Amino acid sequence: HGITGNRIDSQTVLYGVIGDPIRHSKSPIMMNRAFRETGINGAYMAFHIAPDKLGDFAAAIRAMGIRGVNVTIPHKLDIMKYMDEIDAGAQAIGAVNTIVNDNGRLIGYNTDGIGYVRSLKEEAEPNLAGKRIVVIGAGGASRGIVYALAGEQPVSITIANRSVERAEELAAAFETVAEVRAVAGDGLKAACEEADIVINTTSVGMHPHVDASPVDAAWLKPGAVASDLIYNPLRTKFLLDAQKQGCRVHGGLGMFIYQGAYAFEYWTGQSAPVAAMRETVLQSLV
Ligand code: ATR
Repeated sequence: HGITGNRIDSQTVLYGVIGDPIRHSKSPIMMNRAFRETGINGAYMAFHIAPDKLGDFAAAIRAMGIRGVNVTIPHKLDIMKYMDEIDAGAQAIGAVNTIVNDNGRLIGYNTDGIGYVRSLKEEAEPNLAGKRIVVIGAGGASRGIVYALAGEQPVSITIANRSVERAEELAAAFETVAEVRAVAGDGLKAACEEADIVINTTSVGMHPHVDASPVDAAWLKPGAVASDLIYNPLRTKFLLDAQKQGCRVHGGLGMFIYQGAYAFEYWTGQSAPVAAMRETVLQSLV
């Protein structure tokens, strides 16, 4: 057993995650657990890649035969120009978080939005069809989530953002796929009062600013789902307030697990051992 606990030999296939910074990443422990659990001979490393070394890294993927790479901040946009092919979802989102190296052909995917939706369906609300959904925030994370939600036949997706123009741009990008609109001012309160699901995609409430909330949870209906992409803390102020209100709550850890699960499935063709992956990440958080 090496540091990863996986057997490493001359057959071991290399995987990894790139970011800048990267040392906080929980992906290596989660993915090495997934390989161990499934008996796949893989090893997953974290690589600290500076923005000006991205092209060198793309060449290294091919030269070293790295089979799969996760891509995190700040490289999700800039990595796209090194791909041989970009999946339709990643194109619509405008960002790549997962690379599959298919015999030297680099294919870019985005598993963040679909990972979030899988987590929401598994952990909070299995049926998104016919639901009224409010999304707070209009940045990169929000875009992936709106893309994935739009495919689930919701009645409506209402986007609210501090900078209203960004919410309007995002709504316009997906308005042909689903009923998506932007709201400003009192529009958010009205939308929350009607909503079945309210999702925070902003960083408001993230450690160490745990006393902040992006929205007044008192606006939500009892029984509605309050969902937060943040997983540090596991329960944000938004979720704690909403829980007191009688809402069902859904934290952000599942999104992290399932974005990794999809990447694992794209790389290996096997279903990901989600429970084991979650257990390992939870252990590492305490
Ligand atoms: P990410 O990839 O995490 O979505 P991003 O693209 O930088 O990161 O987007 C951050 C989101 O959080 C945006 O919706 C941002 O609002 P603006 O577009 O108005 O900047 C939102 N956000 C960040 N800090 C915020 C704050 N203090 N109050 C309200 N919204 C905030």
